[in-house]
Amino acid sequence: MPYAHITGWGMAVPEKVLTNDDLSRMIDTNDEWIRDHTGIRERHVACENEFPSTLAVAAAVKALQVANLKPTDIDLIICSTSSPEHIFPATACLIQDQLGASRAGAFDLSAACTGFIFAMNMAAQSIRSGSIKNALVIGAETLTRFVDWNDRNTCILFGDGAGAFVLQASDQPGGVLSAVMHSDGSGGDSLSLPAGGSRLPANEATVHEGKHYIHMDGRAVFRFATRVMGHAAKEALELAGLTTDDVQWIIPHQANYRIIETAAKYLKLPLDRFVINVDRYGNTSTASIPIATVEAIEKGLIKNGDKIVFVGFGAGLTWGALAADWTGPLPTERRVHPESYRTWARVRSWLRRLARLIEGLIWGRES
Ligand code: UT7
Repeated sequence: MPYAHITGWGMAVPEKVLTNDDLSRMIDTNDEWIRDHTGIRERHVACENEFPSTLAVAAAVKALQVANLKPTDIDLIICSTSSPEHIFPATACLIQDQLGASRAGAFDLSAACTGFIFAMNMAAQSIRSGSIKNALVIGAETLTRFVDWNDRNTCILFGDGAGAFVLQASDQPGGVLSAVMHSDGSGGDSLSLPAGGSRLPANEATVHEGKHYIHMDGRAVFRFATRVMGHAAKEALELAGLTTDDVQWIIPHQANYRIIETAAKYLKLPLDRFVINVDRYGNTSTASIPIATVEAIEKGLIKNGDKIVFVGFGAGLTWGALAADWTGPLPTERRVHPESYRTWARVRSWLRRLARLIEGLIWGRES
């Protein structure tokens, strides 16, 4: 059975930065409160022409470059997101088109902030089963578009960004070792976006009542998160036959510094074994784990052979963890430049649109 290795990685965040001081000029809050209660100092916010797909493609191109793969080498794209560009088509299909990954099947996965772990597990299982060889797993969000900038309980928390991993089949042992996935739908009300779906389609009243914004019972989510984070990490470790002594890095979902502290206490690990960057990005939901991982790699913290545990929680409620043996890119002589394929991707995309238009005209004349 092949192993599923993590062989490429990349991240992208919007340029615009919103600091706590900026927020204090917009609503009744202050830098000290936000830092004390969350650990956040600033976050990146998407501007008008930035979307989950554009951030995702920027991250994916970097990930493909590290893995030395062309977009057409990819068999599967899973985009985990809670801020999809449309209910349908899937954001993953927009990414597939922009990237020129013409051989890939693409779909979105919705498991909120835990989504990246669920998506990694799905991709790894597809590789392990032998049905695919190369997968692109992306976490991409512009949740600030769904934030009520008058609600100080939520608007201080979220930031935008994307992170991408390439997963590849290899006969060499390593890569994804284990994963656990959990859900408890009875807690769905504690973090939700009530309107815009088929239960409550958007209309004048839902907009007037602010039901198209994120609604959150912060204390309930905090209690849930502190209960499940450490436990899920331990479960994934046990499933992989590892203990906390074997692990170099825990990479948690970056929602709140205090939640990460509680997980560290539960696991009896010092905080310096946790990758933490919530101070500079806020909560980027499903993108937070790959963004934190890419930063840690770029700082030289993660080395080949390190054992790593990714752990997250989020709306749903959902939570989970995944243990991995970090092995880096697979050895290859080939050097590819995925960015250069994007011009062709654009041309091919327009040609396909044109072909559909001509097809429509011919059918119209014949019928
Ligand atoms: O990916 C999952 C996403 N969600 C989360 O991870 C959220 C988890 N929960 C949390 O991180 C925390 O519950 C929050 C950061 C949201 C809130 O922190 P807290 O320590 O639980 O504060 P609280 O809600 O208990 O509020 C304490 C006080 C309240 O005032 P009173 O009622 O005691 O007078 C709030 O009105 O702090 C007030 N408050 C603020 N004050 C200044 C709430 N937000 C703010 C604010 N600035 N931004």
